Amino acid sequence: MERPAISPMPPIAAAVGMPWDSEVDDPIAALAEARRHLGDTFVVDSGEDRYLFTFAPVGVAAFYGLAEERASKAVADWRMLRRKLPDEIFAGRRTLPHQLFGRDDVADYLAHVEKALDASFEELGPAGHFDVFDLTRRLGHRIGLASWGGPGAASGERFDRLADAFDTLDGAESFVHPDAMAAVAATGKAVERAALEVVAREFGAALDELPGHEPEHALFARVTSAWADRPADEAGRGVAMDVALIHVASMSNLFAALGWMVVDLLTRPDELARVRDGDRARAEVCALESIRMAQRSIMARYVMAPVAIDVGDALHEVSAGATIATLLPLTNTSAAPGLGSWDPDRWNRRRLADPSALAAVELVTVFGHGRHTCPAQPFSLSTMTAAASRLVASFDLEPAWTDRPRPVRAQIGGVARASGPCPVRYRRR
Ligand code: HEM
Repeated sequence: MERPAISPMPPIAAAVGMPWDSEVDDPIAALAEARRHLGDTFVVDSGEDRYLFTFAPVGVAAFYGLAEERASKAVADWRMLRRKLPDEIFAGRRTLPHQLFGRDDVADYLAHVEKALDASFEELGPAGHFDVFDLTRRLGHRIGLASWGGPGAASGERFDRLADAFDTLDGAESFVHPDAMAAVAATGKAVERAALEVVAREFGAALDELPGHEPEHALFARVTSAWADRPADEAGRGVAMDVALIHVASMSNLFAALGWMVVDLLTRPDELARVRDGDRARAEVCALESIRMAQRSIMARYVMAPVAIDVGDALHEVSAGATIATLLPLTNTSAAPGLGSWDPDRWNRRRLADPSALAAVELVTVFGHGRHTCPAQPFSLSTMTAAASRLVASFDLEPAWTDRPRPVRAQIGGVARASGPCPVRYRRR
């Protein structure tokens, strides 16, 4: 097989494959091992693909500066997600997530967050046990569907049907359980297609109920207006697929990040007390720190047209068809002394207070750098801050896990998922 040329050619990690193509128990550990042997820039050939990994400070900084037209994040993401999601969800989208996160939308979102928290706390009742990541996942569905799902999407039976369907569809499985993607391919994504039909039906019903409710469902109305020129059937389908892709994207990181924030606060009573007392600024830096530590993301760009990347000791010419990548778990907690511990004091608002020990600021990433920085960062931080603050202020919480929850070993992408149950005892205050 002829693979895309890279010149000069960095060393090849011959023993390593990517987890979609071969059995790799812990892909992050395997790539860390390759880096130890081969240095900061090396190549992995896997299946039909060639990856150029770089962890060199100059290389990582250059990575975030690559032009989308030549080295595409959108195509790299699509190539990963399509292992799990049916093609139909990608084709012909008219509203993309970026278009829902304007400055003026944050206030709207926060109102939905508060209502979703009311509903979640009512479900919890006065006392009992919850699993941290189950709770935050359901909350993530509720907040997202309240924000962009249209009338009725975040309550009653429609909410339960949509939450179940999105749990089946779950595009994040492509990077949380890459080892399971061969089985998904073998079924022709049958269960995912069935779940997408449920989603289409439920959003179709929400669309029928929209007239007269546009102000409370401004984002859903924004999505529908993009289809106003099409016949009703086509518009209904188009709206449903637009909203489905937005919701899938929103479930990639946010609920897991909130889960780790809750875990981190529960194991640090001093910080929990500050957040409980209403210190929102402190809650926000706790959120940033929990995300930094839990990042398990692969950042990838698929080369569409020949591109050069400077990694410090070489300038590599990379041909179309290769993927250029870096991995946050190999830099976020180790690129400078002291990054291995959870410490909200390292943040000054949304920036590192003192990045001087880092050879490049890009070596620590929470929401990304450069042109692809997460458009949902303000929404996500506000949501995490509001949700964690209200949770700890409303309940006495006691961890019921024996060991600290660990990330899923197979995961390569997104914020870590917990590999096992993460139970907490609670009682309303
Ligand atoms: C705590 C939660 C979140 C974290 C940690 C996070 C992290 C990130 C990171 C690191 C990137 C840059 C990736 C790269 O350069 O390759 C990114 C981009 C993106 N995120 Fe988020 N994200 C979060 C929540 C969300 C939510 C709720 C949405 C809603 C749909 C979202 C939508 C996107 C989109 C569309 C991009 C691509 C932007 C572009 O290519 O220009 N994210 N996110």
